[in-house]
Amino acid sequence: MIPRHRLGVLISGRGSNLLALAEAIDTGVIPDAVISLVLSNKEDAPGLAHARALEIPALAITARGRSRAEQDREFIQRLQESGVTLVCLAGYMRLLSPEFIHAFPQAILNIHPSLLPAFPGLDAQAQALRYGVRTSGCTVHFVDEQLDHGVIVAQGAVPVLPGDDEASLSARILAQEHRLYPQAIAEVLAGGWRIEGRRLVSR
Ligand code: GRF
Repeated sequence: MIPRHRLGVLISGRGSNLLALAEAIDTGVIPDAVISLVLSNKEDAPGLAHARALEIPALAITARGRSRAEQDREFIQRLQESGVTLVCLAGYMRLLSPEFIHAFPQAILNIHPSLLPAFPGLDAQAQALRYGVRTSGCTVHFVDEQLDHGVIVAQGAVPVLPGDDEASLSARILAQEHRLYPQAIAEVLAGGWRIEGRRLVSR
């Protein structure tokens, strides 16, 4: 049977969340879905090779002197041609243009390695360590035009332990990301929700 949900995954680097999503589809954690396309804004993103090893179509779309809007237009076109119904950012290190966001209304998700609204932006794990929080984690949220800001779908907490450094805390959060992102995607795909203000509520 042809899967109902077609995911487009956007990456810039390592691609461990991409692998977690692919496995979650295989094991039925995300039912009735397929990753139709992986796009990267970096030609050397290791995640592209992971995608190809799994026989998922994967492509780098770089700026090549174009504006963000022009580059995003190519992203939108490729995703639409692949029939993508949900865009999942997985370590995609670039703000999306308003045109991109409007092309996929309520259908772009991101995972961020902190409990938002704490520590948005780069190096969230280092920010958390510097601040001295005792609990951190990760957040899956809808993407809007502001950085790490859209409506929250799910959050997972992890402890910050004495003696943690950026590497050990990042690894603990990443393990949580690999559990949380598939569950949050499955919840969004299942439907039966609406957005009220900043809150995702069941119908
Ligand atoms: C993850 O920590 C994710 O939360 C952040 O970027 C990192 C991507 O890691 N947005 P990977 O490429 O999925 O391994």
